[in-house]
Amino acid sequence: MNDKQAVAMAAVQLVEADMIVGLGTGSTANYFIEALAARQQQGLRITTVASSHISMIKAQAMGLTVLSISQCPDVDLYVDGADEISPDHSLLKGRGYDLVMEKLLAKAAKQFVVVGDHSKWVPALGTHFPIPIEVMPFAWQAVKKSLQAIGGEGDLRPNVAKDGLCMTSHGSLVLDMRFPQITDHRALNALLNNTPGVVEHGIFTGLVTQVLIADQGVVTAHA
Ligand code: 5RP
Repeated sequence: MNDKQAVAMAAVQLVEADMIVGLGTGSTANYFIEALAARQQQGLRITTVASSHISMIKAQAMGLTVLSISQCPDVDLYVDGADEISPDHSLLKGRGYDLVMEKLLAKAAKQFVVVGDHSKWVPALGTHFPIPIEVMPFAWQAVKKSLQAIGGEGDLRPNVAKDGLCMTSHGSLVLDMRFPQITDHRALNALLNNTPGVVEHGIFTGLVTQVLIADQGVVTAHA
């Protein structure tokens, strides 16, 4: 069992009967969906809400009931991965680019548990990845200009085949930007929240209940 599987197995132990469980997106979240489906097969009654079409399709294929977030505003437990986790448990998310649903679930959930392997710890957000910023398609030039004015560097994210642009499930484009002059991610969070044309962005701060990290098979909880 690899570390992503180990941490997913630990997270699934937090699920209780009749919970509404938020499903994340990505390889670690996929292991969690598989572990949750296995618990359902053993008799656990649960309902889920997915953070992306891809997770919804996987969960449904495994026999889980997936509701729309409009049908279940009271999410009990949301389990998702992250690209980077800072010492104050702020997150950088969005390599899978379904940021709108991910942040809605993180905010709505009574408990938001982040799962990852040891590589996810960083001293500061933006260490390994640029900040993904979802923009309205007609506003991307204006948003890029606003972000350049505060020192942002970057451009639109290409699609996987690199012959076009990446588009989110909700029809937004994604700017991948670095901000070398802004070292405080809370300040950057506030600046991005305040930029017209930004639909959502990958900094998640003040939302996490617990971080579960696996390192060589040993899972540690950080509250
Ligand atoms: C998707 C995410 C993922 O949780 C993040 O990319 C981590 O993925 P993985 O579990 O595959 O390492 O934020 O938007």
